[in-house]
Parts: sequence; structure tokens; C-alpha cells
Amino acid sequence: MCGIVGYVGHAGAGQTGPDSKAHTALDVILEGLRRLEYRGYDSAGIAVLADGRIDSRKKAGKLTNLEQELAADPLPSSQTGIGHTRWATHGGPTDRNAHPHVVDGGNLALIHNGIIENFAEHKAALVADGVEFLSETDTEVAAALLAKVYNDEAEGDLTRAMQLTSQRLEGAFTLLAIHKDHPDVVVASRRNSPLVVGLGDGENFLGSDVSGFIDFTRRAVELAQDQVVTITPDSFAITDFFGNPAEGKEFTVDWDAAAAEKDGYPSFMQKEIHDQPEAVLQTLLGRSDIDGRLTLDEMRIDPEELKKVDKIIVLACGTSAYAGHVAKYAIETWCRIPTEVELAHEFRYREPIITPTTLVVSLSQSGETMDTLMAVRYAKEQGARTMAICNTNGSTIPRESDAVLYTHAGPEIAVASTKAFLAQIVAAYLLGLYLAQLRGNKFQGEIKDILADLGKIPAKIQTVLDNAEQIQALAREMKDTQSVLFLGRHVGFPVALEGALKLKEIAYIHAEGFAAGELKHGPIALIEEGQVVFIVVPSPRGRDSLHSKVVSNIQEVRARGARTFVIAEEGDEAVKAYAEQVFYIPETQPLLAPLLTTVPLQLFAAELAAAKGYDVDQPRNLAKSVTVE
Ligand code: G6P
Repeated sequence: MCGIVGYVGHAGAGQTGPDSKAHTALDVILEGLRRLEYRGYDSAGIAVLADGRIDSRKKAGKLTNLEQELAADPLPSSQTGIGHTRWATHGGPTDRNAHPHVVDGGNLALIHNGIIENFAEHKAALVADGVEFLSETDTEVAAALLAKVYNDEAEGDLTRAMQLTSQRLEGAFTLLAIHKDHPDVVVASRRNSPLVVGLGDGENFLGSDVSGFIDFTRRAVELAQDQVVTITPDSFAITDFFGNPAEGKEFTVDWDAAAAEKDGYPSFMQKEIHDQPEAVLQTLLGRSDIDGRLTLDEMRIDPEELKKVDKIIVLACGTSAYAGHVAKYAIETWCRIPTEVELAHEFRYREPIITPTTLVVSLSQSGETMDTLMAVRYAKEQGARTMAICNTNGSTIPRESDAVLYTHAGPEIAVASTKAFLAQIVAAYLLGLYLAQLRGNKFQGEIKDILADLGKIPAKIQTVLDNAEQIQALAREMKDTQSVLFLGRHVGFPVALEGALKLKEIAYIHAEGFAAGELKHGPIALIEEGQVVFIVVPSPRGRDSLHSKVVSNIQEVRARGARTFVIAEEGDEAVKAYAEQVFYIPETQPLLAPLLTTVPLQLFAAELAAAKGYDVDQPRNLAKSVTVE
């Protein structure tokens, strides 16, 4: 939640950089906020430091509101500043609650991502001290505390003030501050909330993630938990909260700004749906040798330990949890290891049974979802081995896990996840095959065959995308539909759940996904004349096919007046008689089918939301990365 950018540079910095243009704090921060707006977009603000004065503008609503404000009332030219795009937690999305919070008579400005859990006690003490608060936010309390610590204890050392303040705050926070007496310094702190440093030539950057500065540099530094970083145009210095120096891990961002552009699609979500062949391909690349033997080189758990694993727990939230549900079918089939999938926020508040032979696999596109992070930490404390499947290099969850398997889907900007979902399924499948190889559950030849079939998936996704118009036309026709149900069985069940989630998230339509076998135990009561039902039908091939059972389900809902729309495998003629329309996907093995059947449902949701005139990429009330519990 909340996007954060910080910048400090010499006058003229940037002229030798990728965009060969002299940078100002305002240009850099606005560009960063544009890229980070997916993290939260209910208000935005910027503070800059020029001529020994802090000046700020902030505005409720999307970034464009702030840009209009800046056009009407420009900020002075500056080389030092901070910017924020907000997803409200404490206090509604108003101008006043927007960040930055400028305090101490204009001396200090601060922005924040996260939730400060002990803000009330600090606020009471500060009020007793005579501090007046203008907003309802926990952030203003942190700003006032930082100012007080700076004035009373830190002897003019802004870094020291940030360290002392951070020691006293509880909860989750990334804080960035500037002070009028430090014209070329931005100081920042992080606990349980993301922050990366960007390194330039005569300029340095801070961002919630690398997209905050990707237009200006691809050199970045990871920060660990509970660290403070101070940037100047020529330096960055990292310490812990007690002032002990620390090293950051430098890395190069392997995607460029162009990868985060829309490429001519009307929305990032449309683009990302169309990126899926590439996302799957990239995630598969380099994971197996010439004989098809899997080599997962980011695996930092001893293979001997993995051989002993007797239970897998998959932890995730939202769309990532549905990827986990799909993966469970494959992992249990291939490795014969009992696999549970659990919503991360439910997991640690019960008494889960974890032993040293439990492997906990987290799935997270962002690597920053607070519920997932907390669940991973809990699992580690309980002695489990932890492995992250993640799309964001340098993010917290993979850094804190024993092993990581990165999905290479590229940056996902739209709040509703699409390409990361398919890439997560692929990565989890690679893990399943790796474990099967290691433990001897499958012959090498079988693994090789599955990998070969996975290798054909990108072209098959492309075929589905080439036929997008059929389902997009249906979506436009259905734009006034009030309710849509999705049915699926086996791996088609989580696909149905994901199809429903997409529609809820971006088209605000009541939508539910059900296990088709459950229909007669309740959901069929919802069926009335005209009810729209999508059914994900398994392949008719294979002796254990559930095809005929699902076809019976179609008949049952159709007999009660439902309009039935079927996703089925090419050549499945049997479904035609029961469907108003059939959307065909290419043949593949049953366990790989979700990589194809999900795609029409994504296209449907995106087109329908666009037809309703909604903002497909930034749906109301949601944020891409939920970094608070
Ligand atoms: C938010 C997003 C979802 C995403 C979920 C998990 O709710 O809106 O699209 O699936 O978080 O995010 P993660 O980054 O952990 O995969």
C-alpha cells in the first residue's frame, strides 16, 4: 500500500543518465509516483526543499488532481524532495490526511507507508506537550515525534533522529523525511514495509519498489528489516535502528521502463493478459538442462532436507492463493506429499501443525503482502523450511525465506493480477517436478514429458489470445449483467474462483465461483431464468476424466433457466448442445489446463469492466500490494 519516492541530486544530475536530461526533484518524484500509483491512489502529495524552506502540495484523489494543483500553484525548483501516493488506513482520503505531513512550523516533512500501531500513546504524549495535530493520521504523529526527537535529543543529526524515532515506533512503516536544515539529504527508515535505494550519478533515489526510479537508474540496493538509510547526491549510508553501520545488497534491475508501459493496450491489465505467453516462457527458461533434468539454482535448501519433507503448506492471499490451489493438485499428484493451501491471514491465528519436515511455500507477486510475510515468519519460528515463489526481486518475503523461486513475469502494474498468476502456477509446477525428481516419485522421462508440454503452453496461450474477440464481444454485450456464477471441477475449481474474483475486483459485479460437484448442495438454488453461468469443462480425454460429470452440471443449470457459457477443449463437440457459446482452448494435459482456461475469464472481466467505463487498472478500494494487516 502507498507508493513512496525520495530524490536528492546535484543540479544538472541526469544529463549523463538514460534520459540525458537535467533532473529536478519534482520531475523525478512525479514520474516515480506515476509508476507507483498502483500501490494506492486515493490521494497524493509532494514536498520539496529549496532555499532552506520546505514547500508542499497534496491533494485527495488520483495523481492527476495533484498535477492540476501543481500546474495552478507550482512548487519551486528543487533538487531534494519526497512524494507519496496513498491508500488510506488512518483517516479518510482527504487533502488534509494526504502526505507529506509538514510539522514543526514547516521545518520537517514526512511521508509514511504502513500502520503505526502505538501512535495513540505517542499522540497523547505529544498533545500533552502542546503539539497540535491537523490530520487524523498516524503519520502526522510519527512526523511530530521525529521533529521532537530531532530538536530535543539528536543534536541536529537527522539520521540519528530517525534511528531514535524508529526504535520507539511499533507496527509497519517506511518513513521518509526531509528537514529544512539539511538541504541535500533524505533520510528513511523501514520496518515491515518495503523500501529500496536507487543509485545514480550525482543523484540517489528511494522507492517503495524499483519502479519508483526505473526511468532514471537500474542500479538498486536492497535494505534489510529495521534499517535506516540516508541518501545524499553522492552517497548512501545504511544503519540499524541503533546506529550500527550495515551493508546493503546491490542488484541490477533486469527490466526496463518500457516493460512497464502499456504498449498500446487500453489498460495495463489488457497488456499484462497479452504478456502471458512471455511471462510463462520466461518463468520456464533456464530451469532444466538438456536432458530435461530440473536445476532450480535459487534453491538454498539442502536437497537431503527436501527429500524428507512430509507436508507442504502453501500460504498466499487473493489471486496468489488460487494459484496455490491449482498447484496443490499437481504437487500431490506428482510428489505424493500432502499439500495444504491456506490463506496467510488465517494461518497464523490458529495452531497450525508445523514440524521441521514441513515445507512452507509462499506465493506472492509483490513479495510484500503483510499477511503472507507474517505467516512466513511465523512458520519459520515454528521450525519450518520456507520457500518463496515471488515476482519481485529484492522484496521482503523472498529475502526472509530459506529459498526462492522467482517468477519472471516482469512488472505487473494492474491491481488485478493476471500474468503473475500464470507464472506462479508455472513456478509451483517446477517446484513440484523438482521435488518429484529429487524424491524419485517420477521417472526422468515423465518429468521431461511434462516439461515439454509446459514448454508448449506459451504458444497455446497465444492461440487463446488470438481468439480474444469472441469472449470480449460477449463481455460488451453483458455489461449490464448483475450476477455471474462460475463452475469448475478439479483444477477447474480454482480457475472458477479466480474468474469470479476478477469480475468482483474490476467490474464490481456480484460473482461467485463454485466447485461444480457442490452445485446440488446449495448453489443451484441461485439459478433462475437468465442467470449467467460460466463452466470450466475438463478435457474429455483420459480415463479418469470428469468431463461427463461436468456436462451433467451444465444440463442441470440450463434446465433451470441459466445462460451457459462453456470453456472447453478444442474438439469437445459434446458440450455444444448445452452451451449458448463455447470458448475453445487448445489441448493439453489436465493439470496444465488452468494455464489456458483462466485466460478467457481474464479477458472477459477486463473487457466488461472497460465497457462499464471503469478504471480497469485501479479498481476502487483495492491496492496492488497490501502491506498492512
Ligand atoms: C492484493 C491484490 C491482488 C493480489 C493479492 C496478493 O489483494 O489486489 O491482486 O492477488 O494482493 O498479492 P501478492 O503480491 O502477495 O501476490
